[in-house]
Amino acid sequence: MNETILTGIKPTGKLHIGNYFGAIKPALELAKERQGSTMFFIADYHALNFLKDREKFKEYTYDVAATWLACGLDDENLVFYRQSDVPEIFELNWILSNITPKGLMNRAHAYKAIVENNLSEGKESDDGVNMGLYNYPILMTADILAMNSTYVPVGDDQKQHVEIAREIARIFNNTYGETFILPKEIISKNVGTIPGLDGRKMSKSYNNTITLFCDEQELKKKINRIVTDSSLPDEPKSTDCYIFKIYSLFANKTQIEEMTRKFERGISWGEVKKETFEVANSYLKDMREKYNYYISHPEIIETFLKKGAVLAREKASEVLKKVRENIGKVNF
Ligand code: TRP
Repeated sequence: MNETILTGIKPTGKLHIGNYFGAIKPALELAKERQGSTMFFIADYHALNFLKDREKFKEYTYDVAATWLACGLDDENLVFYRQSDVPEIFELNWILSNITPKGLMNRAHAYKAIVENNLSEGKESDDGVNMGLYNYPILMTADILAMNSTYVPVGDDQKQHVEIAREIARIFNNTYGETFILPKEIISKNVGTIPGLDGRKMSKSYNNTITLFCDEQELKKKINRIVTDSSLPDEPKSTDCYIFKIYSLFANKTQIEEMTRKFERGISWGEVKKETFEVANSYLKDMREKYNYYISHPEIIETFLKKGAVLAREKASEVLKKVRENIGKVNF
């Protein structure tokens, strides 16, 4: 059977090393394993929901594209496209809206959380909610079903959305006859939480991130800010600390073993930070160069995305042809 693995990436601004090790790297490895059956897309119209700034909308889209390309996304291996370049998705979005029970949307976690928060603050339940946010799970379903996806690798927070997609696919099949594969989520293996500068999970909302492709000086500055304890340079140190975790992300096995011995013997935090900067910088250097190259050549990014859009539209057109037939639309 022809299995398709599909995942969407929301353009949300510059990515950090937590995004890289937690999402980008494992997704690219999966795509390599499953040569030829993978589709990655930039969910730019999903971002319209929270992004109303024209320049940022453009900038964030190019940023994700440049980041993924720099990290080794190989478009010979997979189809890489931009959601808004595939009109079939939005046609399917409307068709699916007409079989989706409103109650299913009421139960979506993201919407429910806003309602609960509004109520606890004494506001009207739907305060600040637009229809894009409310219908978000239907558009995501259209993304998934338009490519007849079998598997959808997502983080834990998106699991319910894929369950909703499966439910909508089931309702469609029951209403109009077998049309869609029922998609399944693949929850990414827990790579362990990547600690931020303050030791909490690295996250934009904690303002403790290291931007993946910041320049060398910034990288050095950020690494110097990672919290450590107050042990003296010659005191033995436990490797159960944030800086060691970050060092290990970038270092190879031999380097990690050597660093472990240094920790046992005693090493100054200043030295640990210096070595962490060195491994991180040599890991990121080439990718950073590529990233900067793509960012300053948006026309090259466009070439990649246009090529992907052609392939994605080929696939979506086939699916939509079947959908139109099954709902009884006359095709001339
Ligand atoms: N909602 C996803 C997120 O916030 C992004 C996304 C949009 C997606 N459409 C998708 C993921 C389809 C997987 C499949 O991360």
